Amino acid sequence: MNDLTPIPVQEIAAKAEEHRPLIRDPGWAEGAAFIIDRFVPLGQAAVPITDLGFLRGDAVYDVVSVSRGQFFRLSDHQARFARSCSRMLLRNPFTPEKVARLLNALVARTGLKDAYIWWAVTRGSNPALPADRLHSDRFTNRFYAFAIPYVFIKDDADRQAGINLHIAKDYIRIPANAVDPRAKNFNSLDLSMSLFEAGRHGAGWSVMTDGNGALAEAPGSNVFVVRDGRVMTPELGCLEGITRLTAIELCRETGLEAAVGRVTVDDLMSAEEVFLTSSAGGILPVSRVDGVPVRQGVGPVSAKIHNLYWERRWQGWHGLAVDYGAVE
Ligand SMILES: Cc1ncc(COP(=O)(O)O)c(C=O)c1O
Repeated sequence: MNDLTPIPVQEIAAKAEEHRPLIRDPGWAEGAAFIIDRFVPLGQAAVPITDLGFLRGDAVYDVVSVSRGQFFRLSDHQARFARSCSRMLLRNPFTPEKVARLLNALVARTGLKDAYIWWAVTRGSNPALPADRLHSDRFTNRFYAFAIPYVFIKDDADRQAGINLHIAKDYIRIPANAVDPRAKNFNSLDLSMSLFEAGRHGAGWSVMTDGNGALAEAPGSNVFVVRDGRVMTPELGCLEGITRLTAIELCRETGLEAAVGRVTVDDLMSAEEVFLTSSAGGILPVSRVDGVPVRQGVGPVSAKIHNLYWERRWQGWHGLAVDYGAVE
């Protein structure tokens, strides 16, 4: 196999035995949810309409993935989730051990070997007394979660050809002193609007800046550039992505220098290679920025990190086996 081409992950997943779901009650095949205090099939999951997570985006969440029956870096996702809760003065009603058991039970119910698992803590509904709204400890925060078949934000063909990345011009990523993007939160209209802007320009995805020439992040993903053989990703204005951390580890393991710091729009425009990282699909190479070809297109670094990401995961690296017998 040519080492420098991203492997067709979806094609492999569609064929290989290790990805085949276990046969379970078909009622759960589409997905399983946990709503406040009970499990329900995905299609029956509903949120109380006065929940402030729904009304005001007052909530934090996280997403972990399962491939070949193994959670990837679950403890890192849980640690980040705890930081998101603490930054937004939310209290998870469940302990980390209980959350891990609930997430496992959701995947076990679906029988999925490749899954996308989302969970959130919302503020809950407003307390009865208006004066209580001034105190975060007077709210009853609520827990929600679901597991569904794994989600790729782009397909094999896009990963192999690379996408056209549009730099958002009409919108900036929300600043940390407005809604801190290090807390994975529900306030994402800036990201959504940037995607629609990219769509109007015929691009495949968007990336956002801080409005002062520095890159921040992309919808659902962090951004990396390779310049003079050095790999760089923004430090500020973005989520501390777990796939970003993984890509940095893989770069360093491979002998590549990887730095977290200020990365400018000029760095992006003059990069040898560009890629995005996300739990929803792993590593996504970029071959054009604003329609201008990236110097090396889907180059050796992007392809190598892409392939290592999946190969190492499938070997069990940072993995935790789903217990398909455990249904909480
Ligand atoms: C805004 C944003 N940035 C970056 C990421 C990537 O983070 P991770 O690699 O942990 O999925 C996400 C994930 O969904 C995200 O929503």
